Parts: sequence; C-alpha cells; structure tokens
Amino acid sequence: MVITYRYKFGKSMSIENLERRRFDTLVIGAGGGGLRAALQLAEADTHVAVVSKVFPTRSHTVAAQGGMNAALANVLPDNWHWHMYDTIKGSDYLGDQDAIEYMCRSAAHLVYELEHQGVPFSRMDSGKIYQRPFGGQSQNFGGEQAARTCAAADRTGHAILHTLYQQNIRAKTHFFDEYFAIDLIKDKDGFILGALVLEIETGEPLLIEAKTTLLATGGAGQLFRTNTNAHINTGDGLAMALRSGIPLQDMEFFQFHPTGLAGKGMLITEGARGEGGYLVNKDGERFMERYAPHAKDLASRDVVSRAIAIEVREGRGCGPNADHVMLKLDHLGRDVLYKRLPGICDLSKTFMHIDPAEESIPVFPTAHYTMGGIPTNRYGQVVVPVDQGEESIPGLYAVGECACVSVHGANRLGGNSLLDIVVFGRAAGNDIKKYLKENRHHRQIDEESVEQALVHLNRWDESDGNGSETVYGLRAELQKTMEDYCSVFRTEEILQQGLEKVLELEKRMNNVRITDHSKVFNTARIEAMELENLVDLAVATVKSALERKESRGAHSRMDYPDRDDVSWLKHSLYYKEGHRMDYKPVTLKPISVDSFPPKPRVY
Ligand code: FUM
Repeated sequence: MVITYRYKFGKSMSIENLERRRFDTLVIGAGGGGLRAALQLAEADTHVAVVSKVFPTRSHTVAAQGGMNAALANVLPDNWHWHMYDTIKGSDYLGDQDAIEYMCRSAAHLVYELEHQGVPFSRMDSGKIYQRPFGGQSQNFGGEQAARTCAAADRTGHAILHTLYQQNIRAKTHFFDEYFAIDLIKDKDGFILGALVLEIETGEPLLIEAKTTLLATGGAGQLFRTNTNAHINTGDGLAMALRSGIPLQDMEFFQFHPTGLAGKGMLITEGARGEGGYLVNKDGERFMERYAPHAKDLASRDVVSRAIAIEVREGRGCGPNADHVMLKLDHLGRDVLYKRLPGICDLSKTFMHIDPAEESIPVFPTAHYTMGGIPTNRYGQVVVPVDQGEESIPGLYAVGECACVSVHGANRLGGNSLLDIVVFGRAAGNDIKKYLKENRHHRQIDEESVEQALVHLNRWDESDGNGSETVYGLRAELQKTMEDYCSVFRTEEILQQGLEKVLELEKRMNNVRITDHSKVFNTARIEAMELENLVDLAVATVKSALERKESRGAHSRMDYPDRDDVSWLKHSLYYKEGHRMDYKPVTLKPISVDSFPPKPRVY
C-alpha cells in the first residue's frame, strides 16, 4: 500500500518521500529530565537529538519556583536517610523504596554538579548554598522541621533549565526546536526505533530513527481548568505510550498544589510558607494548626490542599464568594520578600494588583503535578508486566513527570521534582550508554509502524472543515469536567458520572472541525492532537480513580475515607485497549538500608 500523507492545507506527499534522519538516541522533550539525559549522552560522544515542541528554554521546568531537595545540612542538621523517610511517608507508602533511596542518596552530588555547571544558587553569608524549609521535611525521622530545599531565589527551575540548555549547546546536542512528536515507531519484536515527528512551522513530517528513545515530555496539568502548568503540558509522551500498548501507572494520583492564585491557578511557591508565611481563613484563624498540629502550614501538599478545601466548604472561606483562603506574608518584611521571593511578588502584582509586603494573597488548591505516568525502573527503562514479573521494552526510556519510577507514590513532596529530573535524567543517560554498547547497529525500520503513524497524522488534516465541534470548545469542556468530577475530593457516584462524560467527549472528538485561521503556523492541527492526548489521559485518570477504593495521598475518596494497606498497597496500571486495569506490587525493599513499613501518616 502506498500511503499519502497530507501535510499542510491540502498539500500531500507519498511515504517514499518522507524525510528520515538517524541518531543513536532520540530525546523527546527539552525540560530538565530530557536535557540532563541528553547532556550525559552528548558528553560521551553519543549522536543525540532532542525534539521539543517549544524552544527548549520554554519547557515547563522553567516555571519551577521553590527549589530542589538535597540533604546538604547547610542550614539545619540533615542526612539523605531522613530525606528518604520523609519522601516515603509523603508518598503515603506507595513510593518504591529502592528508587527513593537511589534518588535521596544521589541528591547532594547532583546539586554540587549543577552548581559547577553554572546554576546560580542563592547563598548564605558563609557562601554555602541557601536551603529553605519545605512541606513534609523533618529531621531525625519525623522530628523537627528540616531545611532541605536548595533555591535560586524563587526561580530555581529557570536557573537549572537555562544552565542545562547551555551545557547541551556546548556538548553539541542536536536540537529540533518546535517539532511535535506524533507516535513511537516499533518493530514486530517490540523494539522502539524512534518516532514520527512534525515540524510545526511547515507541517512536514520527519521520521527520526533511533536505537534508543527517551520520553521526557512532562505532565498533563492541562487536564484541569485551574492549574499551575504551561499551556503545552498536555501529556503527549504519556498518550504516545498508551497508543503503543504501554499501560500508565498510578494515574489516579494527581497533585493539587495548595497555593495557586485564587481563580487563576498560577503557582505561589511553597517556599512562601517555607520562609514563614501562613494561611488564614475568613476569621483570621491560622487553621492549619487544627489539621496538622506539628507541621502546620508545612504539612505535605495533599494535607494542606484538603484543609483549604474543607475550610471553604464549611463556610470559612474569604472574599465575596467565600471561595478561597489568604496567604499571609506581610509580616516577613519587604526586604526578605523581595530577596527570597521576587518572582511571587511580581506575579501577585501583575495578576492580582497585590503587593505581598502589604496585603495577603488569595489562594486555593490548583492542579499541579502528574504523579502517575509511564512505568519505569530506576534506570529509566520503561517496564511492563509479563507472566513472571516485568520486563523492559527494548530501546525505550522515560524520565521526569511523564514517568512513574515511582519516587512520589501517592503524594510528591515539594522540591522532589527538580531532583527527580536530574537524578533519573542522568541514570537514563548512563543506562542508554550501556544499551548502545550492546546494540551497535540500527535495526531495520518496520514500515507498517510508520504507515500507522502517518494514518494517525492524517486524522488531523487541517483542510477538514466539516465537523461541528471545535478543539477549543472541547478542551474547555474537558477541563471543566475534570475539575468538577475528579478533583481534591472524590466519590464513586461523582467519578462514575465523570467517566461517562469524558468517554462522551472522546466520541465527540470524531466530529471535530480543524481550521487554521492563521494559515501560517499550523497550530490548529497541533492543538487537535494535544486534545486527543488529553482526552486519553482524562479517561486513564478517572477510570483509575474510580477503581481505587481507598483514600491514599492525593486520592481522597469520601466514600472510602481510610487508607487500606491490605487491599490497596499496590500500583495501578491502566491500558487504553478496553480501558483495562491491572495492578502490581509496591517495592518496599530499599537498596541498602532497612525498609520503612507503612504506618499511620500524621503531620
Ligand atoms: O511550590 C513550589 O515551589 C513547587 C515546587 C515543586 O512542585 O516541587
């Protein structure tokens, strides 16, 4: 069969003319995880390409504010074992303890490495890297508050991303800027051999053949109407994995950050509470003292988000609609605020006309982080269940927010995501080097897989102006549905209704009209494919949430209010085909230290 593909406004080509490039490694996504892996590889003279749908320094890592955790003990006593304990407790015991040990042990080394690569960390008077307290951190396994988060003011992700990008330029990584990844290419033996991508400006497809492919496409915060995420965070890598038959793990666990700007969603860093800010309700009460008597405003995120939602639900919210609480910072003084938190001072002024040195900021929980994702082991290899345990998919890796390794379990601690991306970006880079030594040659491309990807691309032909649905309208409906039916508190009835609604939206995607009014930038087709990805992930999220009949971490079921370790101390796996669920055990055995067995989680 000769496939013809339409690439722009009615123009078409045949598969024989499809442009092809070859690399040792294809990295999809140019956030911190992708760039850290690419750097590891480029420095080892691997021929590595990074594909990014935006210019690399616009990747969402740039928006990370508060910092990166590492037990440097610069401000208060600390060690990686306490960090490991806090992360496991924070995960509500769903995190895999081998991966968590690996991450916490590597943290200090990787902070110093970033420092030497050029990240301008904030300093103390002694010259050491400044560290601020963040939620869920403790000394001595649950004792006094720790200060573990290394910060570059409140623009830490910005500093790290720019540094990693510059290091990659120096190391001669090849960048495909503003290319959108469509589908993975695989052969009949199950090897992943690269991906079909689309040059956004011209609409021309490009086949990138690679011995190894790393997905580092970030999370899917755009599932929800109010979120802290960039418009680009549409979970493209997760949906690509689903389409090629790989299940997604723990998708029911979506993190709501306690302090988004009320009604708008932009992030006000947890660092604001780390620096001494606190939350109050309409009576001026510091209500977190009731919910977490010890950690108060620095309890873990799921606990603080639920507390805010309860305050509002029980009528103690602020403002004319009683729909938010206030974050009080003015007592910290202008000097501290503008030195330590300049970004959130800017943000509050720009979007709320509020100077935090004088007035409190209205806040409410906002969708922030996808804790589930593509199942991987601690080497970044994508792993799937087989009869006797699990096996890796040859040639395929995933890191960062699109992956589920799982170091965050049911609730991620603030400051652990920047750490996750550099730790596992490096680990994947190292494992890919080994794989390439053992697999020196390109395998024969399976043309059928390429044809399938082209057929998929043809589905979103811009010249099709006949459908009655718009991408914009469906995306807004999807986000509202997720907010109404799969938010901080959940029940069987609400989730069941939510599932029916997202499945209906999935059907309505068949009737979508794609018209690119700009006739220049080819964006309508990209937005349709992003929406297709979001719809698949919405189904994965709601279905996984409906099936998990307990409350754990960020998954809070009002009809099953307790954690149930007997039946539910296990990871969920969702498959696109038949919306099937499966489960696999949590790894409770660390690498070199004793396990932390589940116990009641109080802050
Ligand atoms: O609050 C924050 O600065 C966010 C940090 C994080 O999500 O790790």
